Amino acid sequence: MTTIYDNRAYRARILHLVADPAEAGDAALHYYEDGVLWIQNGHVHAVGPADEILPLPYQVSVREYPNHLIIPGFIDAHVHYPQTGMIASYGEQLLNWLNAYTFPTEAAFGNAEHARHIAEIFLDELLRNGTTTALVFGTVHPQSVDAFFAAAKERGLRMIAGKVLMDRNAPDELLDTAQTGYEQSKKLIERWHGVDRLQYAVTPRFAPTSTPEQLKLAGQLLKEYPDLYLHTHLAENHGEVKWVKELFPTAKHYLDVYEQAGLVGPRSVFAHGVHLCEEQCERLAQAKATVAHCPTSNLFLGSGLIDLARLRQHGVGVALGTDVGAGTSFSLFKTMDEAYKIQQLRGQKLDPMQAFYFATLGSATALKLDHCIGNLLPGKEADFSILDLDATPLLTFRLQQCRDVRQLLFVLNTLGDDRLVQATYALGKCVHRRGGHG
Ligand code: GUN
Ligand code: FE
Repeated sequence: MTTIYDNRAYRARILHLVADPAEAGDAALHYYEDGVLWIQNGHVHAVGPADEILPLPYQVSVREYPNHLIIPGFIDAHVHYPQTGMIASYGEQLLNWLNAYTFPTEAAFGNAEHARHIAEIFLDELLRNGTTTALVFGTVHPQSVDAFFAAAKERGLRMIAGKVLMDRNAPDELLDTAQTGYEQSKKLIERWHGVDRLQYAVTPRFAPTSTPEQLKLAGQLLKEYPDLYLHTHLAENHGEVKWVKELFPTAKHYLDVYEQAGLVGPRSVFAHGVHLCEEQCERLAQAKATVAHCPTSNLFLGSGLIDLARLRQHGVGVALGTDVGAGTSFSLFKTMDEAYKIQQLRGQKLDPMQAFYFATLGSATALKLDHCIGNLLPGKEADFSILDLDATPLLTFRLQQCRDVRQLLFVLNTLGDDRLVQATYALGKCVHRRGGHG
């Protein structure tokens, strides 16, 4: 008989998605106005309306959260932990911003203690914002990834990260070589991939900072370890796209550079994808690759307004990323809010259910993790947050006017931020409590 070391339930409103609303419509959304989430051994044992689930056996403690809402942990599909300290850096677009702020900031991560310090601040921020999983850039230094994984492991989090590969067009102290990048990545994969809840992503920064040789060796790693991820940037900014054309004159387009190296597949996540031709959209869809849309970053760096409807029509998988430090918030609520506004500027509507899907189950599906995270169905890992629906006077007042769950969701999309997140749980354990200790 297995021992049950954790057996408790939470009674609150509960909301999660069980399918893609673009396919399943309203049936994708499960909402219980008076719900119970029952956790055993770090996993969801049962979820449903209180009048079906209660009473529970006497051993199960039930915590009541009136006017709170339980949602699955957010999944941030693209973020740079080393850039936490340079969020809100003024005045530049992508390429100048990299030179002026990013590279000097990342140069400090050769120091393992510094890396660990920033990793802890970063993870605190994720959890304060109800984010329990992220696909994370390190720096070129292997120590940066060791520090990050060690910190995530201690907190029991499900995280994906990798060492940046960069062998040209950056300051010398930030360069590896095609060979050392390959070898260092391999050591990190052996050390971390599959340890507890940690997984590795091969992480060439973007085409301009890697030689074709380096990209090819990145593809080699993916062949050697087929369950790794590929994480990079794609077609974010006009100057970048032009530069890629100059650096890879024989490539058909930006994505072709990655395709030629064997980097485009179902476990590949491309941040941005703002400036793509029809053919690139088609090829992304065929490969079942994912675009991580990062709206706060696209607005902050003035990168452009992504055509989400076109990507979706092509069948490209979409997830949401904060892209901190180019992104301006760790909150997936703020990210959904800005995503909505970008589509407004294009004359399109982003349905709040769809946005919520991109931030939870859709992101989990893109990362091939929907069997263990993304919603609160029985058997899933118990990663969730408890939102205080009275976190601000305006929220209380505005929610009083809501007549259905769709309106509730859109108000949260628009007004939500870290103030709502009362507590965050990972594998059933409290890892953040607002204004207190975990
Ligand atoms: N493209 C290459 N590197 C970066 C980065 O650090 N941030 C963003 N937003 N785009 C990039
Ligand atoms: Fe980025």
